[in-house]
Amino acid sequence: MPDPQNFASPARLVIRQSNAQGNQNAVASFADDVRAGLTAQPKTLPPKYFYDALGSQLFEAICLLPEYYLTRAETEIFERYAAEIVRQLPSPVGVVELGSGSSIKTRLLIEAILANQPELHYQPMDISASILELSAEALLGNYDRLQVTGHVGDYTRGLETIERQEGERLLALFLGSNIGNYTLTEGRALLKTIRKALQTGDGLLLGADLKKPVQVLIPAYADALGVTAAFNLNLLSRINRELGADFDLAQFEHQARYNEERGRVEAHLVSRTAQTVHLRGLGINIEFQPGETIHTENSYKYDLPQLAALAEEAGFKPAKTWFDGERRFSCNFWLAI
Ligand SMILES: C[S@@+](CC[C@H](N)C(=O)[O-])C[C@H]1O[C@@H](n2cnc3c(N)ncnc32)[C@H](O)[C@@H]1O
Repeated sequence: MPDPQNFASPARLVIRQSNAQGNQNAVASFADDVRAGLTAQPKTLPPKYFYDALGSQLFEAICLLPEYYLTRAETEIFERYAAEIVRQLPSPVGVVELGSGSSIKTRLLIEAILANQPELHYQPMDISASILELSAEALLGNYDRLQVTGHVGDYTRGLETIERQEGERLLALFLGSNIGNYTLTEGRALLKTIRKALQTGDGLLLGADLKKPVQVLIPAYADALGVTAAFNLNLLSRINRELGADFDLAQFEHQARYNEERGRVEAHLVSRTAQTVHLRGLGINIEFQPGETIHTENSYKYDLPQLAALAEEAGFKPAKTWFDGERRFSCNFWLAI
């Protein structure tokens, strides 16, 4: 937690662990998920565990890479259309954000809302305590009419705790194509959970990446500098540190693959050799064949009919979509019905 004395007005900041049992439980589910993923065939690890303190900063670096067009495209949409986006709901509006990260793009929406109303209650939720605390501190320093209630933990838990002030409509933000990390079935279930946390007349702004040629997609997830490789491999360092494992990072290679049939980019960690990794904290050893992979992330790419179907299945009416100039990325405003 940031020191409240660092804030001019500490009453404007509340940070909660949305996981009621606190950090102990978070460690237990990391251990359980790593055990389940590495003993499965094929081996997998959930992408939400990329985001320890270093992983969150590596993601910020990815957002600056020339190959990673997603953040720039979504920023371009907000630079151009923020006023129109926030006008989709009548004031006063409160904002809830799933997987808020640095909240840098969100600033454009915050400014557009603050142009229409005297104050704003912003509720960011992120599994990474470090990035949530840093961004909340920076936001409060910059916007004196902002109140922040942050939720550290899985956003599916955070959604159970969202607050609504008198007469307020809520705008939920799910940006950066984070939805693309879920299969269509999982995504549909998550969108239904979001809908359940909202009321009729609230809105969801969903940032979703669009289908495009594989020649553009692969470099976005396997950049020349190797930042995405470091982001992926950092998951193994995290397992070494937090679960007493002995992964030799030099014996694994980052790979991005396009899965045409499923319409997704997959991130893998490929074993360069036959090896055994010991996970002391879990009391298990894991064998790898040469070329065997740990599948760490999916990034699904959408078309507009797919997005419209997802909206309707989850209880939303797709109201308006904005695109960047090159039509690489979409921001979709859905009304809760
Ligand atoms: C792809 S980044 C997007 C960050 C930011 N919204 C953006 O658009 O640049 C995903 C963010 O969601 C957080 N995150 C991922 N899975 C999560 C989960 N299940 N619950 C809460 N936060 C999660 C990560 O820590 C990270 O900050």
